[in-house]
Amino acid sequence: MPADHILAGNGSDELIALVLRATIDPGDRVAFPVPTYSLYETAVAAQGGQAVCVPFPEDFGLPPRVAAARARLTFLCNPNSPSGTVVPLGEVEALARAVAGVLVVDEAYVDFARETALPLIGWLPNVIVLRTFSKSFSLAGLRVGLAFGHPDLLAGLRTVKDSYNLGCLAQAAAHAALGDLPWMKANLARIKTTRARLTRELEGLGFRVPFSEANFVLARRPGTDLTPLARALGERDILVRHFATPRLRPRASNAPTPSPRPRRRGPRPRRRPPRPPRAEALGPSSWRPPGPRRSREAACRAARTCSRALRRRWDPRRA
Ligand SMILES: Cc1ncc(COP(=O)(O)O)c(C=O)c1O
Repeated sequence: MPADHILAGNGSDELIALVLRATIDPGDRVAFPVPTYSLYETAVAAQGGQAVCVPFPEDFGLPPRVAAARARLTFLCNPNSPSGTVVPLGEVEALARAVAGVLVVDEAYVDFARETALPLIGWLPNVIVLRTFSKSFSLAGLRVGLAFGHPDLLAGLRTVKDSYNLGCLAQAAAHAALGDLPWMKANLARIKTTRARLTRELEGLGFRVPFSEANFVLARRPGTDLTPLARALGERDILVRHFATPRLRPRASNAPTPSPRPRRRGPRPRRRPPRPPRAEALGPSSWRPPGPRRSREAACRAARTCSRALRRRWDPRRA
């Protein structure tokens, strides 16, 4: 992918803040299905936006109300935290085409999953995909995240970021990590094996465990307060994250548990070729050689114009 389609941040948390800063004004709607990564709500509030939290159904499938929320910005954590469940790529693409503004697909855990939304970049100019070195590379302390998207969209993010947001040591370490993918893949394999075993054992103990494509599993037990169990595990140095929220308790004891999709036998069917962008999509995103350096003042002017243009372009009131 050309460099102008990539922006590095101080962890993907910084990129989430930058997207919000670049795209919303106070009072603008930002939609996402819940329960999900809790930072979205906090970051939206910090930016003065209005969070539209759409509850996931019991099976953690994509709720149609997310697309219908007419939000300027939509977040989809995929795989989702804390469920570990995945919205299939076809549905992510449909969501990107349906939303009124920008769709951010937070792929913090995608290396543990089977498919990524990266193929949408370049075709759907309103999509940003976020990645991090904090999970599959086990480098959370490094604070490196990456955003992939249309250059104009990323240019908007650059206008609101600190000039030097990422230290050179973090850059060097991230570069070295990318150069050692076999280590990361061995890490993945180990975690996926543990995930499968843990899921089996928990189900054997009567917990409901949605099929996880992340590096954690969500274990629920209908009608049981798990607070004492979480405390007892903690006393044995077994650290679990306990969500004392009714949303994470299954609503009915006979509600279906999402099960793994059956393994496909034989060769994968050919993916249909990507469709051309919508008429209102941004222009070509192919990389071009950089032009002559602009003066600092001209660059600032361009940055301000770009930011304003971005806001206008993704204004759902115009849709
Ligand atoms: C879904 C999700 N997105 C983003 C992040 C933040 O990652 P980073 O360490 O790159 O800021 C996390 C961290 O827990 C996460 O769970």
